[in-house]
Amino acid sequence: TSFLFLSAEAFAIALPPRSGIIISIKPGTPTVPVKPCYIVISKKQLSMLSIKPEERAVFDFSCQNPEKHFVIEIQKNIDCMSGPCPFGEVQLQPSTSSLPVLNRTFIWDVKAPKNIGLELQFSVPRLRQIGPGESCPDGVTYSINGRIDATSVRIGTFCSNGTVSRIKMQEGVKMALHLPWFDKRNVSGFSIANRSSIKRLCIIESMFEGEGSAILMSANYPEGFPEDELMTWQFVVPAHLRASVSFLTFNVSNCVKKEERVEYYIPGSTTNPEVFKLEDQQPGNMAGNFNLSLQGCDQDAQNPGILRLQFQVLVQRPQNESNKTYLVDLSNEHAMSLTIEPRSDKLSRRFVPGCFVCLESRTCSTNLTLTSGSKHKISFLCDNLTRLWMKAEKTISCPDHRHCHRKSYPLQVPENILQLPVQLHHFSWKLLVPKDRLSLALVPTQKLQQSTNERACNTSFSYFVASAVPGQDLYFGSFCPGGSIKQIQVKQNISVTFRTFKPDFHQEASRQSLTVSFIPYFKEDGIFTVIPDTKSKVYLKTPNWDWGLPPLTSVSWNISVPRNQVACLTFLKERTGVVCQTGRAFMIIQEQQSNAEEIFNLEDQVLPKPRFHHHSFWVNISNCSPMSGKQLDLLFWVTLTPRTTDLTVTIIAAVGGGALLLFALGLIICCVKRKKKEMNKGPVVGIYNGNINTQMPKQQKKFQRGRKDNDSHVYAVIDDTMVYGHLLQDSNGSFLQAEVDTYRPFQGPMGDCPPSPPPICSRALTAKLTAEKPPPSFSSESENEPYTFSHPNNGNMSSGNTDIPLLDTLEPVEPAD
Ligand SMILES: *[C@@H]1O[C@H](CO)[C@@H](O)[C@H](O)[C@H]1NC(C)=O
Ligand SMILES: *[C@@H]1O[C@H](CO)[C@@H](O)[C@H](O)[C@H]1NC(C)=O
Ligand SMILES: *[C@@H]1O[C@H](CO)[C@@H](O)[C@H](O)[C@H]1NC(C)=O
Ligand SMILES: *[C@@H]1O[C@H](CO)[C@@H](O)[C@H](O)[C@H]1NC(C)=O
Ligand SMILES: *[C@@H]1O[C@H](CO)[C@@H](O)[C@H](O)[C@H]1NC(C)=O
Ligand SMILES: *[C@@H]1O[C@H](CO)[C@@H](O)[C@H](O)[C@H]1NC(C)=O
Ligand SMILES: *[C@@H]1O[C@H](CO)[C@@H](O)[C@H](O)[C@H]1NC(C)=O
Ligand SMILES: *[C@@H]1O[C@H](CO)[C@@H](O)[C@H](O)[C@H]1NC(C)=O
Ligand SMILES: *[C@@H]1O[C@H](CO)[C@@H](O)[C@H](O)[C@H]1NC(C)=O
Ligand SMILES: *[C@@H]1O[C@H](CO)[C@@H](O)[C@H](O)[C@H]1NC(C)=O
Ligand SMILES: *[C@@H]1O[C@H](CO)[C@@H](O)[C@H](O)[C@H]1NC(C)=O
Ligand SMILES: *[C@@H]1O[C@H](CO)[C@@H](O)[C@H](O)[C@H]1NC(C)=O
Repeated sequence: TSFLFLSAEAFAIALPPRSGIIISIKPGTPTVPVKPCYIVISKKQLSMLSIKPEERAVFDFSCQNPEKHFVIEIQKNIDCMSGPCPFGEVQLQPSTSSLPVLNRTFIWDVKAPKNIGLELQFSVPRLRQIGPGESCPDGVTYSINGRIDATSVRIGTFCSNGTVSRIKMQEGVKMALHLPWFDKRNVSGFSIANRSSIKRLCIIESMFEGEGSAILMSANYPEGFPEDELMTWQFVVPAHLRASVSFLTFNVSNCVKKEERVEYYIPGSTTNPEVFKLEDQQPGNMAGNFNLSLQGCDQDAQNPGILRLQFQVLVQRPQNESNKTYLVDLSNEHAMSLTIEPRSDKLSRRFVPGCFVCLESRTCSTNLTLTSGSKHKISFLCDNLTRLWMKAEKTISCPDHRHCHRKSYPLQVPENILQLPVQLHHFSWKLLVPKDRLSLALVPTQKLQQSTNERACNTSFSYFVASAVPGQDLYFGSFCPGGSIKQIQVKQNISVTFRTFKPDFHQEASRQSLTVSFIPYFKEDGIFTVIPDTKSKVYLKTPNWDWGLPPLTSVSWNISVPRNQVACLTFLKERTGVVCQTGRAFMIIQEQQSNAEEIFNLEDQVLPKPRFHHHSFWVNISNCSPMSGKQLDLLFWVTLTPRTTDLTVTIIAAVGGGALLLFALGLIICCVKRKKKEMNKGPVVGIYNGNINTQMPKQQKKFQRGRKDNDSHVYAVIDDTMVYGHLLQDSNGSFLQAEVDTYRPFQGPMGDCPPSPPPICSRALTAKLTAEKPPPSFSSESENEPYTFSHPNNGNMSSGNTDIPLLDTLEPVEPAD
């Protein structure tokens, strides 16, 4: 049904029944003084006209330009309380073309139950809120009012050119669309939908499609915000842009209960909602969609004050950081991934703006993982890039031992990654070899230092070397350039993790250079090749320091002593404190040139006192299964001093009665040599039967712990645990081959003569030969004829009568002291 009928001269408007429409024509607010004009109905002159449903009016104007005098208001009441609500696109009824050409105001007054949310959706170009006294350039305005019980609340006045895309309200809405007489539009530009309760006065959504800004105001602005109400603004912001909020004008009321505040939900924040006072500096540089709520309070009835807020949201390209795009070329990498993610922040109430990494400047997220095999273009949307870090992992594996034997790979952080303006937290290489087929060697270009309390790494990065065998809790330590470790060999799968400590590590990063090689399999868990520096002490400690060496783990240190230097080996503690549950823990110190070795039962014996070595030597440690809380950890250090005559003189002087000592030593060595020959014959191995202890009254002191002398012999131990047994069965070293006899449990008949305490011999020999220039015969013997001691059970060094004074005297010559 048509609403109106137009004649050539007059206007005719008829409103159908139940249309809910009331039309009124009334004087407007003329801008310039004009001659009076009237509405003419049946020759009667009226200054106002009102048409209700079921009425029909035919009228004309007494002047040529009624638009300068009159305005028309078309109000439609929509009652959702009694029946269904007509939702959807809102029509202009009657259509504008059929109305007199006057300023028109279409009003929709929707009454809805309190628990129904009403949503106004605005099509492009959306709405822009204007403040009091402002007008829209095209004269088209939307005025939106809400309702709290019977009271009307002004939500705002808007122009049709902005960011506001949706407004949700509750309890009903009164929307007035003002169209100037010259505007020809025939659509309202919005629709209404019903939503579930929003539990607040209203929600205003602003959608940004590019850079831009919006000024928004609290309800009733510039008057006070309704008491104890809640209003929310939602912002939809493209991922590559940042939003900042600033409060242009605000006033706070006098609260008696609760506090007036604003609350933000910000993507990436771990402490949402972020609560601010109106006085606070508001968040800036937020990436992603966010929302902001204004919460009023219970005001003081006597002196309420007013709460009001006018604020601006500015959406722009990131300002605080470079808009650079970084190319991360991982196309030549294999089995590698790089993750850029937020630094794990301590939880705090402090506001944290969003911080994003964007792929191709399109998809931004807090957390990005790049994989090898392709190129990636990334950029950052973050106020402060120190809030991010990156972690990378790369796997280097050898699936088939026949193809990778002796192959080596550099462990180098790709330049691609170093160029990124984000701190590299770690780069981890997983080095995988076929089980029992190959082992690994890590060779740095610059010798490494093990980080210890005594000498911590002061570099900006270090390598953390740990087992990568599932279930094996073994870490070899933390290493940095500038030390004495020339090589680290490990038995099986490990991870090498490059960790950075200082942001300026980029400058030092050129010093990183480590190569891994696949080498023939060996059975120690780790072998360290140490070439000490003449200038500083080399501190070395057992793996899993602080937790204790894992059960049945064996580690060796190959410590080189350069010609014309002597090395002093010192242990931090006197005893290890280890208590074995099963097996035995022991240490072997072996002179490489002579093969002379000493075995220390780490459970019972005191560790050797500081001691000089003239030639390269091994420190081999093998653990038992310790009792919990009684773990094995050892820290020792090596210092080098030049082999000088001064030293020799000092030592001779200090030792005093040198001749006597030499004599004693000579005897010992002879004894040693004899013993060795006997041992090599085979059956005489029997002298190592544990029973010998009881036949050696002089040795009693060495067993003062009273520890099961019978089973304290190493052979049983070795068989128990096989810790070293497997090493001895290794077939590729002739030396090892020769040693097998020495370690074999006694099976043959017992010899009649207990051996001299070999540790004493060994130590006296070592000390003497190195400290004093021994007679040529001694020296040639010791250097040309290797001799071997294997006396595990009573190698207690501290109780030997010859070595104590000698060592005590030697100790002070350590230059580092
Ligand atoms: C019609 O609207 C325009 C702008 O919206 C205004 O300037 C003018 O005064 C209005 N006319 C009347 C009669 O109110
Ligand atoms: C709409 O807004 C844009 C930017 O705010 C402005 O350049 C343009 O002139 C406005 N158009 C109207 C009709 O207000
Ligand atoms: C509005 O006017 C346009 C032309 O200007 C027309 O195509 C459209 O159908 C009209 N819409 C209504 C609802 O009258
Ligand atoms: C929308 O209104 C209809 C009837 O008016 C009602 O059945 C429906 O539940 C409403 N939907 C929401 C989301 O409130
Ligand atoms: C609002 O606050 C401003 C300062 O921010 C103050 O000057 C003004 O008097 C306050 N207005 C009211 C009505 O409280
Ligand atoms: C504000 O944002 C948070 C997180 O996106 C969301 O859970 C919450 O519903 C939003 N609140 C409003 C009123 O939009
Ligand atoms: C980056 O910023 C500079 C200066 O602000 C500008 O000249 C350049 O065009 C920007 N580049 C991009 C890709 O936005
Ligand atoms: C980053 O993403 C990965 C995988 O989706 C997830 O495991 C990790 O927890 C995320 N990190 C952060 C800080 O969100
Ligand atoms: C080391 O890793 C490789 C490859 O994953 C696996 O085949 C091998 O069994 C691992 N070695 C050990 C000792 O777990
Ligand atoms: C690190 O320590 C070594 C000696 O311990 C010293 O020579 C070097 O200068 C130190 N480097 C820094 C950056 O402090
Ligand atoms: C011990 O280290 C030295 C010096 O690096 C080296 O020449 C020698 O081959 C190493 N010994 C073994 C068994 O690895
Ligand atoms: C010490 O360990 C090294 C390396 O594993 C080995 O070659 C050497 O034979 C061991 N020495 C003894 C006495 O076991």
